[in-house]
Amino acid sequence: MSDSPQSDSIGSSPFWLAYDCRVSVFKVEGGSSLQGEVFVPGAKNSVLKLMAATLLAPGTSTLTNVPDIEDVTIMSELLRRLGCVVAHAGSSITIEVPERPDHRADYDLVRKMRASICVLGPLIARCGAADVAVPGGDNIGSRGLDMHVEGLRKMGVHVDNEHGYLLAECEALTGASVFLDFPSVGATETILMAAVTARGQSVIENAAREPEIIDICSMLVSMGADISGIGSSSLVINGVSDLKPTKHRVVSDRIVAGTWAVAAVMTQGDITIHGVPHEHLALPLEKLELTGARIEREGASIRIQMQGRPHCVDVVTLPYPGFPTDMQPQFIALNAMGLGAALVTENLFEARFRFVQELARLGADVRTDGHHALIRGRESLSGAPVEATDIRAGAGLVLAGLVANGSTTVYGVTHIDRGYAGFVETLQGLGAQIQRVDD
Ligand code: EPU
Repeated sequence: MSDSPQSDSIGSSPFWLAYDCRVSVFKVEGGSSLQGEVFVPGAKNSVLKLMAATLLAPGTSTLTNVPDIEDVTIMSELLRRLGCVVAHAGSSITIEVPERPDHRADYDLVRKMRASICVLGPLIARCGAADVAVPGGDNIGSRGLDMHVEGLRKMGVHVDNEHGYLLAECEALTGASVFLDFPSVGATETILMAAVTARGQSVIENAAREPEIIDICSMLVSMGADISGIGSSSLVINGVSDLKPTKHRVVSDRIVAGTWAVAAVMTQGDITIHGVPHEHLALPLEKLELTGARIEREGASIRIQMQGRPHCVDVVTLPYPGFPTDMQPQFIALNAMGLGAALVTENLFEARFRFVQELARLGADVRTDGHHALIRGRESLSGAPVEATDIRAGAGLVLAGLVANGSTTVYGVTHIDRGYAGFVETLQGLGAQIQRVDD
């Protein structure tokens, strides 16, 4: 986190509440070819879970490579309400966890950030109880929790859903064998964090294998957890009596890196992305090569060069190592200005195509039918006001605005701020004509 007043003032004064009242828009002028280098910060979808995992050990843990994003601010506030002392210094956070944390996550925070559910596993492990507001659905879909709950029940947790809260309680957490219906990221994390200090052995079959899951396993191991099968779909956890605080570097954000890679292709530019292992983006990079881009992979750097209009590419979203759903809107934006046509299939979030109605305002030719979107590339898009409905939709709309004729105003940019650190500044550094303006 930066040393900005924004991050420093949380807790003493409710700046983050005031944040909601500040309405910005992004003004984008299309036509620039993006060139230059970018460094990728830590991953939103890892850091939030790592922050929650610190609850598992009393004492002070430190996370480095923490992105300066709104969701980290919200998670900091949630941890403070649970009794932690959270301090930000540059891109590090220290979290001092008390001997007896509180065990309630209120709706006012959970409704702001669905990922708050990730405190469920650690709280049940530490306190034997957790009252966590049910996040409900959001703009990308219904977002079930059944696998989280079933997994915990198998471990001896009694879970009720009353007055909008999941009320979880248990006498003693006991290791269990859990076969997930689907390799859910969230359910894998909840069960994993409950299992590390449970009595006996737990096995999570059909576990998620995302780099962010590997990251949390590595951190838990550094805290003293006994986990094997890390990176595979079968995680074996032998419960230990207690964990100790740790220091851990957050894995880089592959989705942020992928977004800049798509920007290079769409704007016919030349961008080198540093700090992210290219293996974490294997399939998106192969897809970009199919559009005609030239890609050089060297260590933790990726250079993407594009000349001419990209070819459209088909995409099917699947759990890792399949194509990430969090890159789907960016690829629809790319296809909207590509040569030819493409079929994009969304298998994770049923409502993630909602944003194509906004893309259509820029002239995109997209037809959706259930899980499928057929995109016919147009030679040119035309700037218009549009509304970001979620983080990735927002990124996709900005990318489209970067290649559209004239001006695009993107509303709802708080969604983008939740997940992209320095979004506008990074694009400006690459030569994009984009400004944050108070509306
Ligand atoms: N699902 C259920 N029941 C469950 C759990 C999941 O039906 O008990 C369903 C969900 O409704 C969804 C699908 O399974 O349709 C995938 O859910 P998953 O649990 O894998 O995702 P998540 O943990 O809710 C995380 C990321 C998402 C990312 C997905 C998939 C965080 C905070 N969020 O969500 O990130 O799309 O994994 O990779 O880690 C984003 O960053 O824009 C974003 C939405």
